Amino acid sequence: MSPPLKPGRFITFEGIDGAGKSTHIAALGERLQARGAELVHSREPGGTELAEALREQLLHSGMDALTEALLVFAGRRDHLQRLIEPALAAGKTVLCDRFSDASFAYQGGGRGLALDVLETLERWVQQGRQPDLTLWFDLPAALAAERRAAARQADRFEQQDLDFFERVRAAYAARAAAAPQRFVRIDASLSIEAVAAQITASMEARGW
Ligand code: TYD
Repeated sequence: MSPPLKPGRFITFEGIDGAGKSTHIAALGERLQARGAELVHSREPGGTELAEALREQLLHSGMDALTEALLVFAGRRDHLQRLIEPALAAGKTVLCDRFSDASFAYQGGGRGLALDVLETLERWVQQGRQPDLTLWFDLPAALAAERRAAARQADRFEQQDLDFFERVRAAYAARAAAAPQRFVRIDASLSIEAVAAQITASMEARGW
């Protein structure tokens, strides 16, 4: 079999808990599929059997920030090797709910883990792999907390206070500023329709 003419696209979705990513990942997936894209939906922490087992520990067991980072990057390594890289090589589009920007935001910004530790892990684990597009759902921490309270029971991260989420948000802003080609900031404080329109516009701007 000849290799695909072009490699697939790797699109990630980021933002603080309660930003509303899930609704829009599903909707974008349906639109891309209708246009003939071969899609793989995945998430982090998780995406493979091993990484999903690590996710359970991460979300529910107490541990320090470095241990959190080691677990998420261990899971990420497995996820890349078993699922993401093979899918991209086969020309598929991978839609992934969170990726390494979340480690910089949560373990770095939220927990205060040193940036150089995260950068080293990222280099070892990703070997230069970065998403082709990252849709960053940005909104104030207080609004996200209101939405979460209405929607679900909190895990270890979701129990953190507003200051924690404002630090996570600021770390996302720093990652976005450092990679402006890759990141698109979506104003997630708006209505579902207005957020969907921003996503459509950012895809069209790339000719996708
Ligand atoms: P998420 O999938 O958004 O949770 P939910 O299923 O409740 O929507 O993410 C789970 C949590 O994991 C989220 O609070 C952020 C955290 N996280 C990290 O701390 N570091 C990471 O590298 C990743 C990918 C997620």
